Amino acid sequence: MAITVGVPTETYPGERRVAVTPKACDVLKKLGIAVLVERGAGESAGFPDSQFETRGAQLASREAVFKESHILAMVRTLGANPKAGLDDLGLLRPGQILIGFGEPLTALTEAQELAERGVTCLAMELVPRITRAQSMDALSSMATVAGYRAVLLAATHLPKMFPMLMTAAGTITPAKVFILGAGVAGLQAIATAKRLGAVVSAYDVRAAVKEQVESVGAKFVVLDVGGGNAEGSGGYAKAMDEEFYRRQREAMTNVIREQDVVIATAAVPGRRAPILVTGAMVEAMAPGSVVVDIAAERGGNCELTRPGETVVHQGVTVLGPLNLPSSIPYDASLMYSSNVASFLKLIVKDGVLTLNREDEIIRESMVCHEGQIVNARINELLNQTPQLAGPKGTTA
Ligand code: NAI
Repeated sequence: MAITVGVPTETYPGERRVAVTPKACDVLKKLGIAVLVERGAGESAGFPDSQFETRGAQLASREAVFKESHILAMVRTLGANPKAGLDDLGLLRPGQILIGFGEPLTALTEAQELAERGVTCLAMELVPRITRAQSMDALSSMATVAGYRAVLLAATHLPKMFPMLMTAAGTITPAKVFILGAGVAGLQAIATAKRLGAVVSAYDVRAAVKEQVESVGAKFVVLDVGGGNAEGSGGYAKAMDEEFYRRQREAMTNVIREQDVVIATAAVPGRRAPILVTGAMVEAMAPGSVVVDIAAERGGNCELTRPGETVVHQGVTVLGPLNLPSSIPYDASLMYSSNVASFLKLIVKDGVLTLNREDEIIRESMVCHEGQIVNARINELLNQTPQLAGPKGTTA
């Protein structure tokens, strides 16, 4: 019997993405995988049931999808959908494989609940950032969408235009945009702001990104904050101490004061986002300026950020948007489902399920298996006091 991948409708409030698109069904078919889609699962992303049927997928009720699938592909598993996701716990059965975002480094209780259920859970967040896993790196693909969207949000809230315009009615000067944190989201934000014609500068603690920042057209801001090498493993930043962040805030004060827009994306994996923009720094910006803090997912880089809300403080608008990829659900789903299909390629060989735990990608992304948490990082966290890393259910 062919391996069946089930695609339930996402139930997290406001979530519009779908884990497998009709296009991905073609890829899965070539792997000998049958696809069973919950009726309406792709609708809010722009993929009606008829498109799934045309690609050979079967449609079914939610119960049937859970019951008849060997593997469930989701955008948000329990850890990233802590309330509505509980309804699915009873539908899961031992031995079933669950793939999706699950915030496993912070939603430890939910990880344990899934382990107790006997499912094998593979978390997309834990796919290592190595060359071989690039096509499965859903955090990066979703951060790309978020970085793009953050700039559009800034542009619509700013009472100015981004490009320089020379018109008969005078010359409009370009908006100044500063990107704080030049990882995946930050680099996409730079490229998007440049395309709109802004004057863009950026800063990141990892000195290695200077070249990348310049290659997408921004000026790299050099801050004299010392502190040594801030690069951890996998191209992520290391956590620095509070004294370092204090020096950074001080050094950035004059940079931020000059900006029309600040897009904050600074993040350290598994941690609360560092506070890098204080209320006083915001107060020094001109009225009408905009801060888009996409690190709101992890508490925020700006002291004034309220995750999921828009705050206007002394004329400056501070946005703390959550779940940005879901606001561009069509392309976000195309990208995510391509990541999921690549992952499935790794675990289904010649139509047979092969969970090779010697493989670094499978080992690192596996949260639980046969009733146990098997992930070393999660077990380490379970043995410590769990760290606060922002509100639950705010997955990329
Ligand atoms: P990433 O790890 O690729 O980039 C984060 C960057 O921040 C890294 O380049 C890192 O070196 C830098 N950084 C860390 N500490 C810093 C500091 N003190 N000063 C300056 N830079 C610093 O992460 P990615 O994938 O780009 O995601 C960025 C953020 O966007 C994350 O917080 C993520 O949770 C968030 N995100 C938010 C979404 C939303 O809907 N709001 C959606 C997707 C991602």
